[in-house]
Amino acid sequence: AAQWPLSGRHALVTSGPTHEPIDPVRYIGNRSSGRQGHAIAAALAHLGARVTLVSGPVSLPDPRGVQVVKVATAREMLAACQSALPADVAVCAAAVADWGIANPAPAKIKKGPSGDEAPPVLSLVPNPDILATLAAPGPRRPALVVGFAAETDALLPHARAKHQRKGCDWILANDVAGGGVFGADKNTVHLLTSSGTEDWPTMDKEAVASRLAERIAQTLADLSAR
Ligand code: C5P
Repeated sequence: AAQWPLSGRHALVTSGPTHEPIDPVRYIGNRSSGRQGHAIAAALAHLGARVTLVSGPVSLPDPRGVQVVKVATAREMLAACQSALPADVAVCAAAVADWGIANPAPAKIKKGPSGDEAPPVLSLVPNPDILATLAAPGPRRPALVVGFAAETDALLPHARAKHQRKGCDWILANDVAGGGVFGADKNTVHLLTSSGTEDWPTMDKEAVASRLAERIAQTLADLSAR
């Protein structure tokens, strides 16, 4: 039990960016590398969990021992997460696009013949919030739901507000003001729970993932013992 504290548990992890198609060759995306989310999936598997990793487009290898479901859009990511339920824990590390394109063009959008026509106008629609959806009360809610808050300013107040608004159990808050987080090796995070805030030292993303996985294992064991 000490070696495989998460055996018999199912963990759901989201990772990477989403790509929202404009037409068959163009999309709206973001700079998430998927490194932190993939490291969390690997760390949970390392502790014995069955892991479903729902990943947007990344250039990382699939972590070993993890079932990877590859998606592009936020809507696909939500559907894949819902299909993966039930889960004991959900960790939403993906950088989900807040908006998708209202009507993606079925064929490549072309410039007009003269080249000085008015440019196309993209109409956006809000995407589902996967974290908030998974954290909503209900019979399929995982016992532990964890989100991230990447902020450039007022990190802890914004993260606290997000903790409330999303209905999740924990938020890992990280300061992305320096621009040194996306794709980088290291991460500085604060763990917000209902009982307070813990400041974690700057660590490799793999070490953040291991520490989070240990905390998840401990908390699920405590919840089962109640
Ligand atoms: O609202 P914001 O994007 O800052 O929240 C970040 C957290 O919410 C992350 O855990 C992210 O994975 C999750 N999220 C989500 N679905 C969205 C937007 C954010 O799961 N549509």
